[in-house]
Amino acid sequence: MAVLLKNLSKSYKEKVVVDQLTLEIKQGEFFALLGSNGAGKTTTIKMLSCLLTPTSGEAVLLGDNVVTSPHIVKQKINVSPQETAIAPNLTVKENLEFVARIYGANKEQARQLAKNMMEQFRLLDKAKTKAKTLSGGWQRRLSIAMALISNPKVLFLDEPTLGLDVRARRELWNILEQLKGKVTVILTTHYLDEAESLADRIGIMHQGKLQALGTANELKSEMEMDSLEDIFLSLTEEGVK
Ligand SMILES: Nc1ncnc2c1ncn2[C@@H]1O[C@H](COP(=O)(O)OP(=O)(O)O)[C@@H](O)[C@H]1O
Ligand SMILES: [Mg+2]
Repeated sequence: MAVLLKNLSKSYKEKVVVDQLTLEIKQGEFFALLGSNGAGKTTTIKMLSCLLTPTSGEAVLLGDNVVTSPHIVKQKINVSPQETAIAPNLTVKENLEFVARIYGANKEQARQLAKNMMEQFRLLDKAKTKAKTLSGGWQRRLSIAMALISNPKVLFLDEPTLGLDVRARRELWNILEQLKGKVTVILTTHYLDEAESLADRIGIMHQGKLQALGTANELKSEMEMDSLEDIFLSLTEEGVK
């Protein structure tokens, strides 16, 4: 099992932000956590990637607990955060080599790894472009390439297409499509079409709670509705808890 959550919760003072998440994600699965702003998606990703300590409950990644073995978990995962973590004044190539070096590659290995990622993500033409001058879509692509350079077994993508135009989104979807089956992907989004077209399974999150879980088809037949949008709207009405 790639991810195993048991009653995972996070509170700030009295406010419960992630509320008893219980969930299993298999290795190689492409999982989408779908929810509106404030649903608790980023908080969940941060707990699973050892950046935030859960208030209660348990999260186990590839057999290791995020609270008791964060150093082991961190070696097996990587994150492309909602606010991308690229260095604006470094070029595409330098950003990739920099991350590779952080993960222990020597100079020559880093050069090779960066080249491989630039090929895979069609970034070679932009190798010498400073990251800050890239468009949003290309910055995202770089951010994902940087997250993959450590060869993680589980990749977290927090709102990867937020703010991108239609074409950039579609291009990024094509890139993400290619990751399917190669790495366990946990993607958060508030775009219904994104979850439906990319994910093997979807978890719908609302006010910190997992409201529904399944493939798009399973959700449709369970809810007796034929669009994910209708399902989403009915599960996330004000007052629904
Ligand atoms: N450090 C914090 N202190 C207090 N409240 C927080 C903190 N971080 C997030 N929250 C609140 O937790 C809720 C969930 O936030 P978040 O996980 O960022 O949601 P999402 O990523 O789904 O938009 C929001 O209501 C947000 O205001
Ligand atoms: Mg978020």
